[in-house]
Amino acid sequence: NWTMASFIESTVKGVQEKVGDNKVICALSGGVDSSVTAALVHKAIGDQLTCIYVDNGLMRTGESESILRFFREKSQLNVIAVDAVDFFLNELADVLDPEIKRKRIGLGFIKIFEEEAAKLGEVDFLAQGTLYPDVIESVSFMGEAPIKSHHNVGGLPEIMKLDLIEPLRELFKDEVRELGLELGLPEEAIYRQPFPGPGLGIRIMGEVNRERLNIVRQADVIVLEEMKKSGWYRKVWQSFAVLLPIQTVGVMGDGRTYENVIALRSVDSRDAMTADWSKIPYDLLGVISTRIINEVRGVNRVVFDISSKPPSTIEWE
Ligand code: XMP
Repeated sequence: NWTMASFIESTVKGVQEKVGDNKVICALSGGVDSSVTAALVHKAIGDQLTCIYVDNGLMRTGESESILRFFREKSQLNVIAVDAVDFFLNELADVLDPEIKRKRIGLGFIKIFEEEAAKLGEVDFLAQGTLYPDVIESVSFMGEAPIKSHHNVGGLPEIMKLDLIEPLRELFKDEVRELGLELGLPEEAIYRQPFPGPGLGIRIMGEVNRERLNIVRQADVIVLEEMKKSGWYRKVWQSFAVLLPIQTVGVMGDGRTYENVIALRSVDSRDAMTADWSKIPYDLLGVISTRIINEVRGVNRVVFDISSKPPSTIEWE
């Protein structure tokens, strides 16, 4: 593809000129944006780039392991992995308010990232996978507060006095995917659904703790398995489980249960600025619901979210 090839060429040149002989760091999340950013910057400056992956304890089942395995085995990137699970869960203990959760996770991330970066010595640049919609949605409109605080924009560079490299700043997600394919990233990385920086922290309504993480993780595995098996995973923008902060009555055998509710959320979108709920077949909804209720201990009800953005948002917090 001529356009992508020339975009890569000019971006590589731009990064080389900007960076010179200096060092660059990049926060790798395993998502498409940071992976493509890292691959592009690596193409430009090679080992002057170091990537840092922070496990915040809010990732899905097996996710950190598979992300790290992928980068270690299949890429040339220098990746430092930090296990900060206990730190983050401690920061989140007793926090109920969604914006406070985001702030704690965002600030915690900055703290851990800064500590790791300091160990590398003199670093001048931070490469970040900011996309065009991130730029728009995080900028306050006519003095109004931004809709939600997205921690991948702002904060880090000012605090660490780093210059930013944001090669994807003018692109939409579908263009980033095309770019990633052109750069040779594997399809499983390219077609990964977006996953928010605060991770499962904002998919657990109310308090985040190990027990509730365990419930939402098990439900999430089922959602992803069934979406993939049925061919729906790639048709939708995002599909995931949300753990609600209420319990409802159910019946099992001849006993009454009083257990958790999982909400299934699936949306179609191009840029996450607007979204519509996915018209998933009833049969698939049925399989997902039955499996979650049968297999996830502590859940006796599944509901399907049929709200569009706006006025709802994609995530529940
Ligand atoms: P909302 O819920 O605002 O989500 O409609 C729009 C898109 O952004 C993702 N999202 C986040 N990503 N940090 C992130 O890096 C965040 O705090 C955050 N909040 C939402 C969400 O998954 C969706 O794709």
